[in-house]
Amino acid sequence: MQETTIHRGLVGVNIDTTEISFIDGEKGELSYRGYDIRELTEASYEEVVYLLWNGELPNEAQLTAFRDEIAPLGALPFEVLDRLRCARPTTEPMHLLRTAVSNLACHDPHPDAIDLDNVRRIGHRLLVQFPTIVSTMQRHRLGKPPIDPDPELSIAGNFLYTLTGERPTEAATHVMDVALVLHAEHGSNASTFVTRAAASSLTDTYSAITAGIGSLKGPLHGGANEEVMRALEKIGSVENVEKYVLDVLAQPHGRVMGFGHRVYRVLDPRAAILLPVAERLARESGDAHWFEMSQEMVRVMDREMTARGREVKPNVDFFSASVYRMLGFPIDMYTPVFAVARIAGWMAHLYDQYADNRLMRPLLVYQGPKERRFVPLHERG
Ligand code: CMC
Repeated sequence: MQETTIHRGLVGVNIDTTEISFIDGEKGELSYRGYDIRELTEASYEEVVYLLWNGELPNEAQLTAFRDEIAPLGALPFEVLDRLRCARPTTEPMHLLRTAVSNLACHDPHPDAIDLDNVRRIGHRLLVQFPTIVSTMQRHRLGKPPIDPDPELSIAGNFLYTLTGERPTEAATHVMDVALVLHAEHGSNASTFVTRAAASSLTDTYSAITAGIGSLKGPLHGGANEEVMRALEKIGSVENVEKYVLDVLAQPHGRVMGFGHRVYRVLDPRAAILLPVAERLARESGDAHWFEMSQEMVRVMDREMTARGREVKPNVDFFSASVYRMLGFPIDMYTPVFAVARIAGWMAHLYDQYADNRLMRPLLVYQGPKERRFVPLHERG
């Protein structure tokens, strides 16, 4: 007799144990390897990647060795660069990122071996190739040549430098670091689950990561940050926020992007960290427009959701949208920026998945017709 309990959306299903990160959705807490995310925003993205991948924060010598190791790996094979160059400038950046990562496998002499050494080798490369891909595609659409990363700069610094061609200020680099750290890892979210599920067939790292990128792109997941800014642009002014929210909520299953979370019942701790960052950037830039609309949206959503007896708070994508705007990213780059961070988490989970694998093969409860008689084609009316 088939088990017929259905967990739609895999709600509440534990797929494995992990030591990588812990989320307390009731308290609104997130930690990586036991370190509270709030404290980790004082660390660089490289330190956090090292922590996620090795279980411990690096000391200075270990961090220098890690930085020295990854610094030369960001360059892209000529063929991958060429593909990026040949893309239509209107191609969605997430399609380009997914295609470029898939293409990297074709120019790696050992794409398929899934022993830890090889998967880590690929992880080190992807960590620094992701930002190169994203900045190269952006420069290409602007008709500008790619810029070689500066080995003296961090991943966050280089990302901004290779995008704009200008050496970023320390303050901008720090904000980028914070954003990368906050988006680096988040347990069994949709894209990490998809990455692990793909790898559970023992397919190669590139295929698994490509699947993860495809999942991240969706508007219910990483794509939400772009939808938030598109909504704010459409709304246009603080006065129009209320009507926009009420109109969305009046639709059957209407969703205001950047709100709600499967795991958090209180404010997403990453949103709590980004809120003052967005506020400060808005104040410093003299353009508080986006932040004021965001605040009004939070106020109206809070009132409406409370009235409906729901706990629906802003999530990480809500405030990252205004932060990315202040950092100068075009809207369709927001989700690729998320991917530049999340490669850290995807790889950490791949190391674990390959080390102790079991094929993921859930069930579906069949409810279609049964025992029908086959009718040959020429007898079908
Ligand atoms: N706007 C309005 N109502 C909402 C929202 C929202 N964004 N999110 C949840 N609700 C309410 C709503 O009342 C819903 O009931 P109903 O289906 O009857 O309308 C109820 O809460 C339950 O929502 P759900 O969609 O069943 O909850 P879920 O756990 O399946 O979905 C979610 C979580 C993130 C997909 C959903 O909250 C959502 O669609 N949010 C907007 C997209 C978004 O911001 N995604 C980014 C998530 S955080 C970053 C990341 O991990 O990528």
